Amino acid sequence: MKEVYATKDFIPLHEPRFIGNEKKYVLKTIDSTFVSSVGPYVDAFEKGISKYTGAKYAIATVNGTSALHIALKLAGVDSGDEVLTQSLTFIATCNAIRYCDAEPVFIDVERTTLGLSSASLETFLDEYCEVRNDGFCWNKVSNRIVRACLPMHTFGFPVQLDEINEICNRYNIVLVEDAAESLGSLYKQKHTGTIGKLAAISFNGNKIITAGGGGIVLTNDEVMAARVKHITTTAKIPHKWAFVHDETGYNYRMPNLNAALAIAQLESLPAFLKKKRKLAMRYQEWAANKDIQFVTEPLNTKSNYWLNTVVTKSKEQQNAMLEYTNNNGVMTRPVWMPMHKLAMHKTSQSVELVNTDWLADRLVNVPSSVVMND
Ligand SMILES: Cc1ncc(COP(=O)(O)O)c(C=O)c1O
Repeated sequence: MKEVYATKDFIPLHEPRFIGNEKKYVLKTIDSTFVSSVGPYVDAFEKGISKYTGAKYAIATVNGTSALHIALKLAGVDSGDEVLTQSLTFIATCNAIRYCDAEPVFIDVERTTLGLSSASLETFLDEYCEVRNDGFCWNKVSNRIVRACLPMHTFGFPVQLDEINEICNRYNIVLVEDAAESLGSLYKQKHTGTIGKLAAISFNGNKIITAGGGGIVLTNDEVMAARVKHITTTAKIPHKWAFVHDETGYNYRMPNLNAALAIAQLESLPAFLKKKRKLAMRYQEWAANKDIQFVTEPLNTKSNYWLNTVVTKSKEQQNAMLEYTNNNGVMTRPVWMPMHKLAMHKTSQSVELVNTDWLADRLVNVPSSVVMND
């Protein structure tokens, strides 16, 4: 089979690395016949992620989007509710909100963290929302309940979680973290995804470690954890042979075959993080005397440097950089088109997204695969 790793003529944006026990565990799984949603690797992977992140419970799913969907459901997000989130995110954040038949409301991001701004969140809530006698936070404009806040740790850079958490508590809003991109990233020594009530991580092929496809829900709440496991396994009442389901559940459980790959990847995570940091520092040195800014980890945080990012001077410089690199065998890409510009979210309420638009016109992701040889 043709190698798809970077060649001297082409450098991809991010490719997975399989340097450990991946083949061994995957073959073992095939030999065992337990390739589907039951098997020892799923349990071992959940335990491994729980230990690594410090979250009391971790429940593995088929992908990050399903993990996010279930996390929002467990946060109580229901039809007609609102979820405060950032417009500068990957589409899956908003898809998960829509799967709950809820409405996103867009809050601005910070230029430093590239993630949800606590100042923008507070301004929005102070101006448009109130906690009513029923204890819920109501949006006075739409007359809908603001059920959850869903910040995203963009490219692995943690948002300012303490400030956001404090505001959410004040307004009785559940904090759910979209930690899809931030495995290995810390906020004040704590792993991202462990401060909110619930969080979701992705193990897509482009993430720091991969399950082929996979996700995980994190929570410290025992009751929620049990419920996540129940509804992600078709809400089947455990029994040796009988098939009885007590509600409409989801077939979202991570297959053992994917977990086999994932657990081998998890073993390599510490090494990957070191190499990624090294690469990021080299980019930082390279950018030091140029008229573009390399994005570094915000105060009080440690980033996994999943996708290295530069801020160009202008939309023109962003276009020039994208054109030059992509025409010369170096894959780069702009940040996602902000959600408030997409047809399906255009009518959603939002604050003035000054930083979101500013960053969308300037950010460029540069090649970020783990480079094993120095
Ligand atoms: C911010 C964000 N949220 C959610 C997801 C969804 O993860 P998945 O692709 O595993 O469904 C991703 C990654 O793809 C992501 O980058």
